[in-house]
Amino acid sequence: MGKVILVASGKGGVGKTVFTTNMGVTLAQQGKKVVLIDMNMGLRNLDICLGLESKIVYDVADVLGGMCRIKQALVRDRRFPQLYLMSAAQYKEKVEMTPLHMKVLCQKLKKNFDYIIIDAPAGIDDGLSLAAAGADSAVIVTVPEYAAVRDADMVDKELLELGVKERCYVVNKLKLELFYTELVPSLNDIAENLKPDIAGIIQYDENIHISSNNGIPIVTQEGTYIQENFSNIVKRII
Ligand SMILES: Nc1ncnc2c1ncn2[C@@H]1O[C@H](COP(=O)(O)OP(=O)(O)OP(=O)(O)O)[C@@H](O)[C@H]1O
Ligand SMILES: [Mg+2]
Repeated sequence: MGKVILVASGKGGVGKTVFTTNMGVTLAQQGKKVVLIDMNMGLRNLDICLGLESKIVYDVADVLGGMCRIKQALVRDRRFPQLYLMSAAQYKEKVEMTPLHMKVLCQKLKKNFDYIIIDAPAGIDDGLSLAAAGADSAVIVTVPEYAAVRDADMVDKELLELGVKERCYVVNKLKLELFYTELVPSLNDIAENLKPDIAGIIQYDENIHISSNNGIPIVTQEGTYIQENFSNIVKRII
């Protein structure tokens, strides 16, 4: 039986899609069978991060709306042994999707995949409830800014209410030069504001930004500190 991991955040733009991509590739490189689901209806990004944008025919809304079979919406990333993408709909409100539909989809995927990683939309509204419906656990992504940390705490509370009991967080885009000035929240400040355990820290690195723009996940760069860091974070999460 596979495991469904939700990647969520309160504030937008903190790095959920980049994290989902690289966590998925890390697990696929270890021989796990992984599917990444983009739940950002109308604002899909995962396909670009993976360089698969020209391969999408059917999407998760087609599956949940009964327009196609699950298999038809799974796009294989041929660079990795067992990595698949189920994209979000390009346009919003295509079909009605309920948390129950999503839960059933996750249960079906769990029979065939080791990990189902869901890239949730930012925030605490219905989009999160839908994305979280089948989740066994969640990774909350935040950045070292008080606003993002407070929003992460709100998402954490919402996920608890939605019944997602296993939760952890990742601090992304840490700039060392600012960190040492004490002008941004320290890891202690962040930990005081967030209840779950920290799974890891990812530095702000232009190489991450460039790679996600080019559809080449950064963890494919062998022997880099980023690859090693992701591998450790993923180990802690799973
Ligand atoms: N550690 C990092 N270092 C440098 N740039 C990063 C890092 N993480 C993410 N980025 C960049 O930050 C931007 C936002 O990342 P991403 O799209 O993954 O965020 P998101 O949380 O998915 O956003 P949204 O809420 O809009 O879905 C992108 O341009 C990405 O390349
Ligand atoms: Mg995103």
